[in-house]
Amino acid sequence: MKTINPVDQLNRPLRDLRISVTDRCNFRCTYCMPAEIFGERYEFLPKEKLLSFEEIYRIAKISVQIGVKKIRITGGEPLVRQDIPDLIEMLSEIDEIDDIAMTTNAYLLEKFAQDLKSAGLNRITVSLDSLDDDVFQKMNGRGFDTSKVKNGILEAKKVGLSPIKINAVVQKNVNDHTILDLIDWCRENKLIPRFIEYMDVGNLNQWNLSEVIFSKQLVEMVNEIFPVEPVDSSYPGEVAKKYRFLDGKGEFGVISSVSQPFCGDCTRLRLSPEGEIFTCLFAQKGLDLRSPIRSNASDDDLLKIIQNRWQTRNDNYSEQRSSLTNKNIKKVEMYHIGG
Ligand code: GTP
Ligand code: 5AD
Ligand code: SF4
Ligand code: SF4
Repeated sequence: MKTINPVDQLNRPLRDLRISVTDRCNFRCTYCMPAEIFGERYEFLPKEKLLSFEEIYRIAKISVQIGVKKIRITGGEPLVRQDIPDLIEMLSEIDEIDDIAMTTNAYLLEKFAQDLKSAGLNRITVSLDSLDDDVFQKMNGRGFDTSKVKNGILEAKKVGLSPIKINAVVQKNVNDHTILDLIDWCRENKLIPRFIEYMDVGNLNQWNLSEVIFSKQLVEMVNEIFPVEPVDSSYPGEVAKKYRFLDGKGEFGVISSVSQPFCGDCTRLRLSPEGEIFTCLFAQKGLDLRSPIRSNASDDDLLKIIQNRWQTRNDNYSEQRSSLTNKNIKKVEMYHIGG
């Protein structure tokens, strides 16, 4: 198949497609889907508005023609979408895709790990903000303790999903005092913890700069207990900066999208559950692909729509954050496009 490599207005090629398969989640993390807003009566997308697996597959298959090599499945929580291993199986048949990963909260992972692995999923990243049950129960907004999440992670390890990364969003005075425990557990279980600077995604979380723990400070704190040295990135545009523990027991990462934005290397396109593409995590709106798909657009028509959107892209929100945060811009919510 012929592949072309269009670049956007800032000369960035397209490499990653992040597919959100549902806007639903079994958690109510305070910084993402606050329980007061996403209550019993909240109306999530009805089934007919969600892209079907065949429609998702079609978009993925077209996207590889313009450079996509890597797919990440996200949500909401992707494991609450029915039959998700079937989608992985379909996507894993696309030869040009080198890597299929999933971001999950792991609450349902113990049950699904083997099927996901058998379907062709390469690896997972688990969102786990703390191993302290009190802290975790408050942050996930549902009062769940960490036992099911830990079991899910250990099962994923057992079936060979690898590497397993653990993402923790760090909020000052919320979970920052539990970072070292999380590192300790990850070192013992050969997992890669990564600490994310809390970001102003969406408009619901009342973000404030004073709640952010900057990576520089976090690395200094870790280094005092577990000495580390920096490691080179594994590939251009890698989001996490990595450090190796000097005693040889693994590595950890920091994702510094507030203090050190990485827009210059951003090669990510995001697909929402109802079939809109977003060219930035902080985009104000997406471009609808579901309508053309459902009104019989050809593959070539769809290719042109996606390529054209990529070529006109000029997003670099994180680099302009300080001048934009107070402007009350309406932004897409994280649970909708999955981080
Ligand atoms: P690997 O493929 O394992 O290297 O994953 P990754 O680090 O690219 O992806 P992951 O989904 O684990 O990203 C971790 C977190 O980084 C996300 O949950 C976001 O909080 C943040 N992040 C990822 N991509 C972007 C991005 O394009 N912009 C910004 N501002 N933050 C991002
Ligand atoms: N800032 C940083 N990361 C966030 N995530 C969700 N909301 C935010 C935020 N405001 C992370 C989740 C998960 C991924 C999908 O995005 O913890 O790891
Ligand atoms: Fe669900 Fe992830 Fe959002 Fe938490 S951060 S509510 S687990 S989508
Ligand atoms: Fe990419 Fe937008 Fe994130 Fe910058 S802020 S790295 S352009 S998604």
